[in-house]
Amino acid sequence: MDIAFLLNGESVTLHDVDPKRTTLDWLRETQGLTGTKEGCNEGDCGACTVMVTDETGAKAVNACILFLGQINGRALTTVEGLATQDDLHPVQQMMVEEHASQCGFCTPGIAVSLATAQLNGNKNHDDVLAGNLCRCTGYAPIIRSADRAAKALVPEGFAPLAGNLPGSAQDPDPARPATIDALAQALMTTPHATLIAGATDVGLWATKSLKDLGPVVFINGVKALHDIHITDEKIRVGAGVTIEALRLALAPYHPNFSEMLRRFASLQVRNVATIGGNIANGSPIGDAPPALIALDATLHLRRGTETRAIDLESFFIDYGKQDRRPGEFVEAVSFKRQPDRLRVYKLSKRFDQDISAVLGAFNISVSNGEVANARIAFGGMAGTPKRATHVENALIGRPWTLDSVKAALPAFAQDFDPMSDMRASASYRLQVAQNLLVRAWHDDQGTATSVLEVQP
Ligand SMILES: Cc1cc2nc3c(=O)[nH]c(=O)nc-3n(C[C@H](O)[C@H](O)[C@H](O)COP(=O)(O)OP(=O)(O)OC[C@H]3O[C@@H](n4cnc5c(N)ncnc54)[C@H](O)[C@@H]3O)c2cc1C
Ligand code: FES
Ligand code: FES
Repeated sequence: MDIAFLLNGESVTLHDVDPKRTTLDWLRETQGLTGTKEGCNEGDCGACTVMVTDETGAKAVNACILFLGQINGRALTTVEGLATQDDLHPVQQMMVEEHASQCGFCTPGIAVSLATAQLNGNKNHDDVLAGNLCRCTGYAPIIRSADRAAKALVPEGFAPLAGNLPGSAQDPDPARPATIDALAQALMTTPHATLIAGATDVGLWATKSLKDLGPVVFINGVKALHDIHITDEKIRVGAGVTIEALRLALAPYHPNFSEMLRRFASLQVRNVATIGGNIANGSPIGDAPPALIALDATLHLRRGTETRAIDLESFFIDYGKQDRRPGEFVEAVSFKRQPDRLRVYKLSKRFDQDISAVLGAFNISVSNGEVANARIAFGGMAGTPKRATHVENALIGRPWTLDSVKAALPAFAQDFDPMSDMRASASYRLQVAQNLLVRAWHDDQGTATSVLEVQP
């Protein structure tokens, strides 16, 4: 495959390159750009952070799980591209002045994350750095340098990048479709090809499981999959919409869902991870599916010219088994516009950048003091994201009171028989799922229940 992009402002075209090579390996092994570090090689530590700019703007991304096939037509900036010959970038200068680096291994990744934030005017540095692990300096001096750099001017030459993108390499390649029709056609020809969207799951199959991915189809060039369409009736989210774009788009409609997504991995992962990938991977601990099931979402699938729409919950048949035929792909997920009653709670050992032990989503509507409707779904409680139908039935038609909630708690054991693993024991999971329903009730009464809201 031919791939064209800007590397630190210079045009690069690679001919007949393996699109499944990681950007990190390519930078370090062929370009001598060893400032970008390899730490975990699985998207967790941020030592490999690079800036990727496309027509939607500049984003910090982990190069270790970013395939070359994903950067066609984009601009790539590494830590070597931050400073000019004469001046350090403001974030570098402030890091020097604030003594924000000790061993220095994390420092290039932190500098790139902060330079991207500075460019974008994003001053929420705790969020920006949730995916950058520093083991020795401690974050106080790093945050101090970030705060100071945020007040400096963006260096010339950074801002124009978005308007100065290279043309993508356009060799007609079915592994890199640009339209939904071309994607459908590619998958009819190669039905067992591995689809690669953000590669935040698939990347690890390559770097950690050392799997041969076989034939692949990159879908991040299919612009129509990136649309979020909001009407008075519906919200329809294309499969290629990133988790970060979804987080921002949902904030006015379902703020609690949006806030939960702030704890989905790190900014580097959310900037490329897609909603389609989060559903299609069929994970029992994916964060978006329970919330979408609670919203009664519909999944839109396509195979060739044939489309079908199914309830999202019915897509998850069993652990590792989804209702998706060879050659079929997720086109979008949609749900009705509805008054916001959704509460979503993610429980994990760490606040940031951690996989859920249990995630509960509650969409409970109340009319005249009685539960009119309830859709409750959990992740981490079964082999698939799953509804708590017995609990729902125990609530519907009952007064919306703490007594009714307590009376419904035994029904959790009818809905779920969770397992014990390194994240949580079965008994913890069952107990905490019950507690989350109690929390949802208290939340609905206006009691502050979030650790971010509760003040000593
Ligand atoms: C460090 C790290 C932290 C993470 N933290 C979280 C977290 O907190 N919560 C969470 O839920 N997940 C987390 N994940 C997992 C991952 O980020 C998500 O599952 C993500 O949504 C996957 O999307 P993707 O676009 O990267 O998928 P990819 O890796 O590109 O693909 C995943 C799977 O879906 C298939 N696929 C992708 N798009 C489609 C489509 N349109 N149609 C059909 N099949 C498709 C692929 O073929 C593959 O089988 C984390 C991952 C990493 C590396
Ligand atoms: S090397 Fe750790 S996130 Fe890439
Ligand atoms: S300075 Fe050593 S890991 Fe951050």
